Amino acid sequence: MSPRLLAVLRQLSHAEFRSGQGLAAQLACSRASVHGAVAEAQALGVPIHALRGRGYRLAAPLSWLDGEKLDSALGRRGMSLRLFDEQESTNTTLMRWAQAGAPHRAVVAAEWQTRGRGRRGRDWLGGLGGSLAFSLLWRSTRPASGLSGLSLAVGVALVRALRGLGVSGAQVKWPNDVLVAEAKLAGVLIELTGDVLGPSAAVIGVGINVAGGALLTDRLGLPVTDVQAHAGPLDRNQILLALLAELDGALHQFEQEGFPVFRTEWQACHAHRDQRVRIDMASGEGFSGLARGVDEQGALLVDTGTGMRHVHSGEVSLRRVAS
Ligand code: BTN
Repeated sequence: MSPRLLAVLRQLSHAEFRSGQGLAAQLACSRASVHGAVAEAQALGVPIHALRGRGYRLAAPLSWLDGEKLDSALGRRGMSLRLFDEQESTNTTLMRWAQAGAPHRAVVAAEWQTRGRGRRGRDWLGGLGGSLAFSLLWRSTRPASGLSGLSLAVGVALVRALRGLGVSGAQVKWPNDVLVAEAKLAGVLIELTGDVLGPSAAVIGVGINVAGGALLTDRLGLPVTDVQAHAGPLDRNQILLALLAELDGALHQFEQEGFPVFRTEWQACHAHRDQRVRIDMASGEGFSGLARGVDEQGALLVDTGTGMRHVHSGEVSLRRVAS
């Protein structure tokens, strides 16, 4: 993303056209670089109307993250934020920062990730201005082995926040994707750092689609949805703060009591509860059965007809199959 891009976008509004000349004067650059920034934004999926003689206007309202506002709201909770226009991946940045001593509950957010990472080595794509990408550092007194079920607790926290924002149909898919009616709304990538036996640190990376889900559905060939489709237009700062507040609360709860206190709630919002599912292991092994909730460690329980299997591995994919 060119350095000028966000500066230009932040000057554009949905309500009125801004001339290329006016933007260039304001940003102390040439009209050609304004034009280039608009073309780049359009190529990244930001819908902009361009009219000869009138200039540019956003086709739909966009809210940009406001570092000062976020930092002061988070500061009141004792959390700190680093907001970037662009990062390779907020998880990569925070993992590095965690190893260099980042404080407990530090947050890294970016308007744009050049190499957003998903689970199982996949890429994570977000829309510029239409998604949220952030990572939260949780330093735990528990060793890494005591964090089983953490990712499911994170899924519950996201569902709590999203339902609170009006996405009433938000559900979890094991272990922690958030879906609405089978379409993906959010994904979580948790990476651990620190001593395996001593206190551990988890970098909890969250990607949420806020708008433009239909565009992502076309690009990825998978059902994708967004917050706006279910809760109407919301300020992304408000969404981020709501998500972080629920995550923070849930992580404190997890720290004290572990996964068992989340188990009933996780099962109540399980998208595939009692449905026939297929499990694909990284080893190549696959099997199907009825999803019967999770055990006290957060392993998915699958009734194969010949017994109950406990699926622990993060390398599991879950897909519905025709019965
Ligand atoms: C998945 O569904 O596979 C997990 C997606 C996680 C994406 C988020 S976006 C913020 C953080 N930084 C990353 O590179 N990945 C996570």
